[in-house]
Amino acid sequence: MTDKQLNNLLKQMTMEEKVGQLVQLATPFFKGATDRGEITGPMENMNIKEEDIPNTGSVLGASGAKETINIQKVHMEDNRLGIPLLFMSDIIHGFKTIFPVPLGISCSWDLELAEQSAAIAAKEASTAGVHVTFAPMVDLSREPRWGRVMEATGEDPFLNSTFARAFVRGYQGDLEHDTSKVASCVKHFAAYGAPEGGRDYNTVDMSEWMLREHYLPAYKAALDEGAQMVMTAFNILNGVPSTGNAPLLRGILREEWDFNGVLISDWGAVKELIPHGVAEGAKQAAEQAMNAGVDIEMMTSCYTNHIQELIHEEALEEAMLDEAVMRILQLKQKLGLFENPYRGANEEEENQIVLSKEHRDAARKLAGQSIVLLKNEHILPLEATQNIALIGPFAQSTDILGPWSWGGSSEDTITVHAGLSQYVSQDKLFAAKGSDIETSTEQQLQAALSTAQNGDVIVAALGEHSDMSGEAGCRADIRIPEVQLDLLKKLKELGKPIVTVLFNGRPLDLREVLDNSDAVIEAWYPGTEGGNALSDILFGTINPSAKLTMSMPYSVGQVPIYYNRFNTGRPKDAPDAQERYVSQYLDIPNEPLFPFGYGLSYTHFEYSNLTLSNSQIDEDSILSVTTTITNAGQIAGEEIVQCYVRDLVGEVVRPLKELKDFTKIHLQPGESKNVTFDIREEQLRYHHANLEYKSDNGEFELYVGPSSAEGLKEKFRLRKQR
Ligand code: IFM
Repeated sequence: MTDKQLNNLLKQMTMEEKVGQLVQLATPFFKGATDRGEITGPMENMNIKEEDIPNTGSVLGASGAKETINIQKVHMEDNRLGIPLLFMSDIIHGFKTIFPVPLGISCSWDLELAEQSAAIAAKEASTAGVHVTFAPMVDLSREPRWGRVMEATGEDPFLNSTFARAFVRGYQGDLEHDTSKVASCVKHFAAYGAPEGGRDYNTVDMSEWMLREHYLPAYKAALDEGAQMVMTAFNILNGVPSTGNAPLLRGILREEWDFNGVLISDWGAVKELIPHGVAEGAKQAAEQAMNAGVDIEMMTSCYTNHIQELIHEEALEEAMLDEAVMRILQLKQKLGLFENPYRGANEEEENQIVLSKEHRDAARKLAGQSIVLLKNEHILPLEATQNIALIGPFAQSTDILGPWSWGGSSEDTITVHAGLSQYVSQDKLFAAKGSDIETSTEQQLQAALSTAQNGDVIVAALGEHSDMSGEAGCRADIRIPEVQLDLLKKLKELGKPIVTVLFNGRPLDLREVLDNSDAVIEAWYPGTEGGNALSDILFGTINPSAKLTMSMPYSVGQVPIYYNRFNTGRPKDAPDAQERYVSQYLDIPNEPLFPFGYGLSYTHFEYSNLTLSNSQIDEDSILSVTTTITNAGQIAGEEIVQCYVRDLVGEVVRPLKELKDFTKIHLQPGESKNVTFDIREEQLRYHHANLEYKSDNGEFELYVGPSSAEGLKEKFRLRKQR
């Protein structure tokens, strides 16, 4: 459809029809639906009239070619002007082939694999008739109590931004010409990852300086990469709910960033302006959200029931409604839905490609790159000749896909037991559950202890069940459940070497796990091929290379914890620090248990010869930073080399370290490689007190190393000419 035809279409639309485009309903509302689809919020009291349904603009959570084709078919018959529905869904880390949760993916620091995972997710979802994915979620978070950290890519603004771009590229590609792509909706705008106390939906209060410096860059990066949609956040931001926050949505997003795509509320977030206490009722909620620039209301009926009235009362201008409708029609046009409302949906193809070998191989590969080795006291890799006692609630569990994997299924999931069976014969593999996730019986325990006696080594598969993270999955105690710690302690008493493998959606307090294990592996939720990927790591087919993208706290009492923190006026490690009057905890260290960027390998790498091409730079020059990395161990491996900068004196305080670049290299035993990073003036810019974004002349420290806590150090100066 041409732009002219689109304008004509808009002119023919009644006001009811226009408002209908602004409404998104879940699958069960549609006549053609046979399935409930994905339900991710409250369904009660929708107050939608039967006759409004044919005008609706989009569907949430329907999938499967048969289902989407059917819903669209009925809709095309019922909609007066034949305006097709948009199908949107949460395709977060895979559709049927489930990849590791995004927090796990980010630990790979592998942008190509991340992009590939999104491309595969798009390919599978598009054959099932999905047009838009509510991804990526790029909410920076320093809050392991918050259940949704599993869905984002960690605590660093630069890393978050690079992953945001990779995911958008993977989902969208050449969206207008390639029906195997889906439009990307970046979320949740803004700062959803910083709720007070780590409790979902809770208050966010932060300075605009902090917001711009650390929290906004990843949303912006996703939009710069071309993300077609944005979703608002549930939280308030500095007193105003994001979904009714005009300075944020119209001001920053639309005007400052020039975003012309579709802005959708989160599920029910327009109506939630009422309990937030900023709207008296549904009508005022509709007015606020519309004024703020929200185009689509997801799953409440404030727009349906009140926009027309608000326009008639001249509280809203019809032009505002037309603009919102036009943005939605334009997205439908971009996706080619006017020409083919069934875009991409193809049952036969769907059956052929989902979970294909190629997709499973990619999932296995990425999972292998995402699993972090945290501790290894000379026990890993295992050998196929060893007897293995696999103990724990995750030994044979299919609950390793993680939250937001509603398209995945347990039958398709490779458990740890199934994965290990590829490496060891059945007579060498002994398995027992030992406990459930949060409860256990004496019988379970005794059976596990006797099974464990058969092993030369115990692999303890422990963790959180997937409902313990994800949306509304927050925890105040971030240890693995007590019963599992008890199980681990009892296993330890057997005196056999223990490898603990963890399945969970957040950084945990792992002190007791470390004390009772000889090796610890953080598997996150590794996805469909999880059992295989984990076994690849356990047996050394893959040498672990993943590195943490969120600090693992020593204790929940340190939270929020992040590596790019400020120094305070009384830093603990200052040369003249006094015993008492310094910034510290009296009972625990300041440092996390494992820092951002940390992860072990079965080999070890040595860093030497950090050299800078110059001792100073200006706006036009490049500082080339070269380091030699040597594989000083016995086996080949990959190392994620990280480059950090510290701005020693700023107009406002500057972080102790900030990640500026990274790369992943492969080294044979004994091999050395030089890695070069190029640093430019623009990477040294930051938001000043007046929010101006610029760099300052002065001295900088530069670190190249294997994590945020280690590395070689040099200094350089910035001396600008202009
Ligand atoms: O996309 C999600 C969002 O992240 C949380 N609330 C529900 C939405 C739709 O499922």
